[in-house]
Parts: sequence; C-alpha cells; structure tokens
Amino acid sequence: MIGPTPPAPLAAPPTVEPLEPRRLELDGAVAVAVRVPAPDAIPPLDAWPIDPAERDHAAGFGRRRQNTWIAGRLALRTACRALGVEPGPILPDDRRAPRLPATVSASLTHTDRWALAWAAPADGRTRGIDLEDPTRGGLHLQKMLLTEAEAADLATRPAARQQSELIRRFALKEAVYKAIDPRYRRYVDFKEVALWPDPPGAEAGTARIDWILAEGEAPPAEMILRWRLWGDAGWLCTAEARWGG
Ligand SMILES: CC(C)(COP(=O)(O)OP(=O)(O)OC[C@H]1O[C@@H](n2cnc3c(N)ncnc32)[C@H](O)[C@@H]1OP(=O)(O)O)[C@@H](O)C(=O)NCCC(=O)NCCS
Repeated sequence: MIGPTPPAPLAAPPTVEPLEPRRLELDGAVAVAVRVPAPDAIPPLDAWPIDPAERDHAAGFGRRRQNTWIAGRLALRTACRALGVEPGPILPDDRRAPRLPATVSASLTHTDRWALAWAAPADGRTRGIDLEDPTRGGLHLQKMLLTEAEAADLATRPAARQQSELIRRFALKEAVYKAIDPRYRRYVDFKEVALWPDPPGAEAGTARIDWILAEGEAPPAEMILRWRLWGDAGWLCTAEARWGG
C-alpha cells in the first residue's frame, strides 16, 4: 500500500510583527501564521483587527486568551479570504469549533507565540491542525496520552528524545481530534487512537493510525497525518480525514 506523501519542507517561522498575517503553503492547503502579541501588548479593544461580533464575544476573556483569540481569528479570516471566501464573524459552534461557511474546510491552533489557520475549499474532507511546544509538560503525561503499545514504543527511543516525541504524538492526536469531531461530536479520549510516526526519530514525516473508538464509530476511509518540527515553534501537525459513504 502506498502511504501519504511526506511533508514538503517548511521554512522556519517568519520574522513578522505581531498580528501581521503571513501566508504559508502547508500540506496541500493554505496556511496563515500570525504572531500572538506579547501579554502586555494587546491592542485597545476598538483597534482589534477582527469583526465587531468577534470583538464582542472576546471582550470578556482574560488578556492571554484575548491575545490568542485575536491572532487566531485574524489567521482564519486571512486564510478564508485567500480561498476567495468572506467568512463573516467567526464565532464558536456548540463544540467550540470555529463556525465557517460550508464552502471551507479549516482548522485553527494557537500557542502563546503563534496562531495558525489551515484551510482548503470544501471537498468533503475534515481537517485539523495543531502546534505544540516540545518542551511542554513532562514524560508523566504519557499515562494520559498514550496507549500501552505507544508507551512501549516510546520507551525504545533514546531517552533524550522521549519528551519531544511524546509531545509529537500529543500534537498529532489533537489534530486528529479537530478533524474527527465534526463527525463524531463527542469527546474522543487520547487512548482511542494509537499513532505510529514514520520515520520515528526524524524532524518531519507521516503517521499511521489505529482506531480504538470506544463507541464503535466507523473511522474515516482515510486519515492523512503529517508532522514536522517548525523551527523553535514546535511540532506542527496536520490531519486530513476523508470519509467514505
Ligand atoms: C479541542 C482541543 C483539541 C484543542 O486543542 P488545544 O491544543 O487545547 O488548543 P489549540 O490552540 O491547538 O486549538 C484550539 C482551537 O481548536 C479549535 N477547536 C476547539 N474545539 C474544537 C472542536 N471540537 N473541533 C474542531 N476544532 C476545535 C478552536 O478553533 C480553538 O481555538 P479558539 O477557541 O480560539 O477558536 C483540546 O482542548 C481537547 O479538548 N482535546 C481532548 C481530546 C483529544 O485531543 N483527543 C485526542 C484523541 S482523537
């Protein structure tokens, strides 16, 4: 069987001003990166470069969340416009996913430093993106994040890489979650999927997935998973689900 093509090289994070959207090509779709303003550099409320309805929605958030919210909305709106779609206010749906026109398939992730949107014209596929700092958390998190088989696999890796490789699986699983949630519409636990990154010790590659869905849903006909270390920003992972029937 022929697997997905490996990810094309992606330049390190660009040097941009906070809230200056920068377009990237990522895994066959449009991506837009926006640097999150520093915690003490949030623009005044009426200068937020987002839709007024989004501004009203975010006005009650704490400052840190406001910063990532603004950057995320800007990234997602810029990505939609790059596809020729005017999204209107991008508010959350009942599962916290961004509500978008049916002509777009998109996903959003943010860290304290970056917001990234990933968008394609609607094609029946659902998409997820996730960016995670590889130094985050600790190896103890594997009890929550990994199946027994994945934990055994991680234990065979060089000790110095285990933390980073754990977070790679975490980021991949969150990308998977965002891609499947529009279909399943339930909390899918981290141990309901097992992932096998290939090549295991590299800085970019693909991954195979085993489904262990507790509620027995039909898995996607195909799930394309790609990952790479995006400079010092962290593991940048995408998940693209193609649904059968
Ligand atoms: C929802 C979840 C995946 C978000 O990931 P995160 O690393 O915490 O946060 P990120 O910054 O990467 O992504 C947050 C964005 O994801 C999007 N998002 C949130 N819920 C979503 C959902 N149900 N479906 C799709 N996208 C969703 C939103 O755009 C959100 O940003 P916003 O609130 O500013 O709009 C995570 O919080 C979660 O609940 N995970 C538990 C389940 C899981 O991952 N299982 C893995 C096995 S499949």
